[in-house]
Amino acid sequence: MLEETHRKISVLEERNLELVEEARRVEGEKRFVEGELVRLQKELKRLKAELERLKAPPLIIGQIKDVLADGRVVVKSSTGPDFIVSTSDYVSTELLIAGARVALNKQTLAVMGVLPPSLDPIVIGAEIISKPDTLYDDIGGMEDQILEVREAVEDPLLRPELYKKVGIDPPKGVLLVGPPGTGKTLLAKAVAKQTNATFIRFVGSELVQKYIGEGARLVRELFDLARLKAPSIVFIDEIDSVGAKRLELATSGDREVQRTLMQLLAELDGFNPLGEVKIIGATNRPDILDEALLRPGRFDRIIEIPMPNFESRTAIYKIHSKRMNRDPTVNLEELSAKSEGSTGADIKAICTEAGMFAIRENRDIVTMVDFEKAILKVLDEDEDKGMASGPMFA
Ligand SMILES: Nc1ncnc2c1ncn2[C@@H]1O[C@H](COP(=O)(O)OP(=O)(O)OP(=O)(O)O)[C@@H](O)[C@H]1O
Ligand SMILES: [Mg+2]
Repeated sequence: MLEETHRKISVLEERNLELVEEARRVEGEKRFVEGELVRLQKELKRLKAELERLKAPPLIIGQIKDVLADGRVVVKSSTGPDFIVSTSDYVSTELLIAGARVALNKQTLAVMGVLPPSLDPIVIGAEIISKPDTLYDDIGGMEDQILEVREAVEDPLLRPELYKKVGIDPPKGVLLVGPPGTGKTLLAKAVAKQTNATFIRFVGSELVQKYIGEGARLVRELFDLARLKAPSIVFIDEIDSVGAKRLELATSGDREVQRTLMQLLAELDGFNPLGEVKIIGATNRPDILDEALLRPGRFDRIIEIPMPNFESRTAIYKIHSKRMNRDPTVNLEELSAKSEGSTGADIKAICTEAGMFAIRENRDIVTMVDFEKAILKVLDEDEDKGMASGPMFA
């Protein structure tokens, strides 16, 4: 009997121990879950706020046209008509001035905030901060053209008093015209490298935008930036994409391009002549340019970049083969004579091809034969291209 009781007690004691252990475990679990609850509640709050933020209707960007006596303002948004709207109390009234960029509520168009005036990121991106590493020495031939560009662009910026003394207005800008691959962009890069002025570079096609008026706005902002950063040089490459002749019959896309061109003309005219902004344009299609762009007073100087002659070609060969491991028998003058009618870009391609021929034969020295083969290859390809656009199926 006693034995029986002892056994029961020990069983109960064991059970008790187990239960105490269990209670401790559950207590711990409870604490953990409570912590988790707090964390999840925080997360929930954050997500709710995020959701709220995402669900908030977008704000429309507009511009204040007028501030009325009763505190309301007239705004213009991209939707078309002008509206009279009230403003949020959170917007301080001294910021509400005509011309300010503002954020509008989507439904009521109430002014919700004033935005800082901005330049389009495309425009900001156009300013060259790290300069290209092209030197005037990297340009073969073109001595007269280099001189002309420097005279027309650098001197007015660096020594305006010269022009004052003589009593003439310095040129506003130059237009570089010439066949593809003759070094127009190269020359502009060299100017960018040499000049201390801010260099703002733009490709004409970037100014052609999807929405009406956007291209013109870009041009305006581009020149605003140029004036802000004066002395500066604005380089518009492939200007024919906005500067093509204005036609009577035109699609709405063409008309948008024309608007951009007109803004460009207005900016060219608007300059104070001794202003410290100069323009360089480049194109290989001067024939399709609008006369208005070409008349004196816009691009004052039209600099023709010719096909390189014998001496220039030799110089270009020298530049592009400078770092090549040439066989001493390579005669650059002879090569130049053999590549009549090739541009600077062709010659660069010839030098690369010659190197490729050497590599193909496992040599690290480029021979005259390599160059001759390369000339045949590159100039033949050019001719083939000419054929394709010519009377191939005649
Ligand atoms: N006069 C030159 N001296 C040295 N290299 C030249 C010369 N002309 C052209 N090149 C070479 O050809 C390349 C192409 O020239 P570039 O881009 O300036 O041509 P482009 O006249 O602007 O042509 P496009 O009208 O097609 O824009 C240059 O990067 C350069 O390596
Ligand atoms: Mg070019």
